[in-house]
Amino acid sequence: MKIFKTRREFQAHSLELKKSGKSIALVPTMGFLHDGHMSLIDIARKKADVVMVSIFVNPTQFAPNEDFDRYPRDFDGDVAKCIDHGADVIFAPETGEMYDENSSCWVEEVSLSKPLCGRSRPTFYRGVTTVVTKLFHLAQPDYAVFGLKDAQQCFVIEKMVKDLDFPIEIIPAPLVRDADGLALSSRNRYLSADERSRALSIHRALLGAKAEIIADHSVMDAALLRAKAGIESAGGKVDYVDILDCDTMAYPGEKTKRVIVAAAAFFGTTRLIDNEIFEF
Ligand code: PAJ
Repeated sequence: MKIFKTRREFQAHSLELKKSGKSIALVPTMGFLHDGHMSLIDIARKKADVVMVSIFVNPTQFAPNEDFDRYPRDFDGDVAKCIDHGADVIFAPETGEMYDENSSCWVEEVSLSKPLCGRSRPTFYRGVTTVVTKLFHLAQPDYAVFGLKDAQQCFVIEKMVKDLDFPIEIIPAPLVRDADGLALSSRNRYLSADERSRALSIHRALLGAKAEIIADHSVMDAALLRAKAGIESAGGKVDYVDILDCDTMAYPGEKTKRVIVAAAAFFGTTRLIDNEIFEF
């Protein structure tokens, strides 16, 4: 296992690997790794000669009022898990190492990134697309694995790679849940036992809406309202419950093949997201 802390050394290593003909799969993360992250590393392990994991809590995707300063960190635990799952390289820069002080360039996707999380976190996706672009240039991957826990993020990255001709295959990975249905997330660490059990209402609400919509598309809007009410009655403060066409991120229409029913809600001060994707 090699651990790099600087952009320069990490990129030099990646370029050497490329020159020697090795294929590379990258798993970008913000650390505090859980089984959801590990499932991505397992997928990467099957795809390429070299598996790289980046661990970087990216300041540019957090708004000033968000949890950048208290985002959970456990570097030693993360390293042990990466070794356990056969990763070859970790890139873990300090906050100040990743961006030059006078950096003035952004990469921005301006369509798929607008609804859902893009509405309530208007600077989030440009932080994500910018840091992921930098990680792609540093890691030189042939493959990059992204989880469908953050489905909109995955779609935005796929669009960026397509529009900007990155020679990288994006591999979407299934959402991993706890046995009780809660979507695994580093932020679950913030929840009290009571909040955690009430947060199960999110997945229940999404499953209810999905079943109703599959049975009858015409009840779509009412089903979303019922899902919202379900989360609220469990004490959640709903940011959104929405249904969108996965390809366009617009309201589903005649041509829609696949939809995402997605929710974001606060339990206490913790913002959780979850989704169900299905044929329409
Ligand atoms: P982070 O939240 O650490 O997630 C890293 C990757 O793990 C993402 O692709 C995310 O979708 C995936 N992931 C998280 N929880 C998952 C779960 N329960 N099941 C499946 N996959 C899961 O997403 C980010 O970091 C950042 O925005 C990043 C892309 C690293 C850019 O900073």
